[in-house]
Amino acid sequence: MKGVVLAGGLGSRLHPLTKVTNKHLLPVYNRPMIHYPIRTLINAGIDDIMIVTGGNSAGDFLKLLGNGKDFGLKHLDYTYQEGEGGIADALSLVEHFADDGPVCVVLGDNIIEGNIHRAAEDYRRQGRGAKILLKKVHDPQRFGVPELEGEKVLRIEEKPEFPKSDFAVIGVYFYDSSVFDVIRTLEPSQRGELEITDVNNHYIREGTMTWNELEGWWTDAGTFESLLRATNLVAETGANNESVEVKGNES
Ligand code: G1P
Repeated sequence: MKGVVLAGGLGSRLHPLTKVTNKHLLPVYNRPMIHYPIRTLINAGIDDIMIVTGGNSAGDFLKLLGNGKDFGLKHLDYTYQEGEGGIADALSLVEHFADDGPVCVVLGDNIIEGNIHRAAEDYRRQGRGAKILLKKVHDPQRFGVPELEGEKVLRIEEKPEFPKSDFAVIGVYFYDSSVFDVIRTLEPSQRGELEITDVNNHYIREGTMTWNELEGWWTDAGTFESLLRATNLVAETGANNESVEVKGNES
């Protein structure tokens, strides 16, 4: 399975920090933000990785990461997203890299305390469809929120005013190669973006979506509050700890 880190976008929620640089190059405690999602993939045994960048300072990713030597990699792939078409638009750019195989997609501003090794194993066994990871949060209206019936996900709502559960869909997704056909059917949302939630709802309707619950803390880092929280969490406990594992497979 190949890995993808989505690190484009204009980071407008972090202006003026992102006026001259890319959000994913900003510091989270002692590392640039993008180091954490790359580590998330590598700890799951995924070392064939493409970075989708865009916006300001896209060239600086090459300067910072090169061929991934700091992570023990021999090679990294890069591609460039023009404009702010959303997460699903960014994902559409990796079709050639995916080469008809499955992908694990991590949003470049998502940081986890533990690891997703077991979820990746479960998804490899699943063999088709998609998998999402859920985490209980106190502010679900900021995220994609699943409506659950027992263990079953009925659908996901993007940033609902009245969330149907207190889970967030975190920014780590597993897809088979049909994801690119799914993205081609999407229409831009009210915020003018192709939404990853619409991709996920497609797999739910098709009956091929599974989920796991993440163990350990999870945070995004795309707002001032969450960037500060990310820094404090990493400083207090460290991130990408291999002994903190996701809970067993649910569907
Ligand atoms: C995105 C997704 C959302 C998900 C979140 C995780 O939100 O649209 O479903 O819960 O990432 O970080 P965004 O950061 O684009 O607001």
